[in-house]
Amino acid sequence: MSHGPATPMSSRPGNPLRGAAAIPGDKSISHRALILGALAVGRTHITGLLEGQDVLDTAKAMQAFGATVERLGPGEWTVDGVGVGGFAEPAGVIDCGNSGTGVRLIMGAMATTPITATFTGDASLSKRPMGRITDPISLFGAEITAREGGLLPVTIKGAEDAVPVTYRTPVASAQIKSAVLLAGLNAPGQTVVIEAEPTRDHSERMLAGFGATITTENTQEGRVITLTGQPELKAQQVAVPRDPSSAAFPVAAALIVPGSEIRVDGISRNPTRDGLYVTLAEMGADLTWENDREEGGEPVADLIVRHSTLTGVSVPAERAASMIDEFPILSVVAAMATGDTVMNGVAELRVKESDRIDAMAKGLRANGVDVSETPDSMTVHGTGGIQGGGAAVETHLDHRIAMSFLIAGLAAESAVTIDDASAIATSFPDFVALMTGLGADLS
Ligand code: S3P
Repeated sequence: MSHGPATPMSSRPGNPLRGAAAIPGDKSISHRALILGALAVGRTHITGLLEGQDVLDTAKAMQAFGATVERLGPGEWTVDGVGVGGFAEPAGVIDCGNSGTGVRLIMGAMATTPITATFTGDASLSKRPMGRITDPISLFGAEITAREGGLLPVTIKGAEDAVPVTYRTPVASAQIKSAVLLAGLNAPGQTVVIEAEPTRDHSERMLAGFGATITTENTQEGRVITLTGQPELKAQQVAVPRDPSSAAFPVAAALIVPGSEIRVDGISRNPTRDGLYVTLAEMGADLTWENDREEGGEPVADLIVRHSTLTGVSVPAERAASMIDEFPILSVVAAMATGDTVMNGVAELRVKESDRIDAMAKGLRANGVDVSETPDSMTVHGTGGIQGGGAAVETHLDHRIAMSFLIAGLAAESAVTIDDASAIATSFPDFVALMTGLGADLS
């Protein structure tokens, strides 16, 4: 994605938030639907696809590798796949824009096909570590060239005769797990990933849905995931459920703006994604779940959220992976709670679209909230009410930092301004319209 001029934006305190919020499709599942559709035989039909820039960049990449990707209407797409091992060599450089998930999963998916591809991205993605993917995919036989420090641009010469791999992920990361599993698709025999802490399991669920043989066993070492290589993946109908990480923003807003009550339908209750909701309940949030059901192979329910009086909690390190994208918005909620909220085991936040501990700490401090940090933890000293605001915040091309501070401004004493709202389009293009529709004052 190329970034145009920065678009500053402000939010200010105002009316209670009311109404129903229609959350867009899940980003993780949208990337995977396109990639697995491209690796399947036949036409995959996707509904509810997130049309954020990150996912659009993945759609473009799948076309560059030889799949035919078409948009039929809003959120409705088809992918004519080339089959496992059928990727063609792309003619140009693959630009994954802002998307760590896109670039890392696609690098895995092509690593065991004998073609060469070069990957690049925007200023944020170009600072993020790729060694965590290039190390395991080189074990399959791929040859890699990267910039100093394992950074993009990265060129991968896929393995001619891939060998299967057993890999223990060095950090809790669904992106690493998924890249290894996607590489294992075109290796003979069994590829095994062992993860000490469970991470989001969409790849496992969707690989099984597309017809791969994949098992998960909980052992003393952690989760052991075994994939049998060289399956024929079969095209599927994929109904993408709504994104719980995007839902987190209006949910947080309703909790901290006095008098609010909103409804968000179809929120994931997948235990690998629900850590924020568990944490909010512990803080005293008024959350009512209704209509438990399954959508797109994921457990979901409808959520009613009311403004709440909240108390700080300590979030255990074991929960971090299940809410890894929600810590920025949790820190805004924590600022409005009484007492300290301690976020443990969150070192991975330092290598997201920005260093999210640093970005949140600086932005909150500038707006009158006291924050302490260590290399792998962050503590927000809650003010117990509406205080602060008024300062401008740097967002570092990070959509979740941008949305978090716009939510903060809705419950501050005076407006909060962010330097650039353009990155929000990577994951939640309708964020401003949705929040304004609930009554938020953003401009
Ligand atoms: C994702 C995994 C997470 C998350 C990202 C999406 C995925 O990254 O932060 O937004 O779709 O697999 P890590 O697995 O690197 O923690």
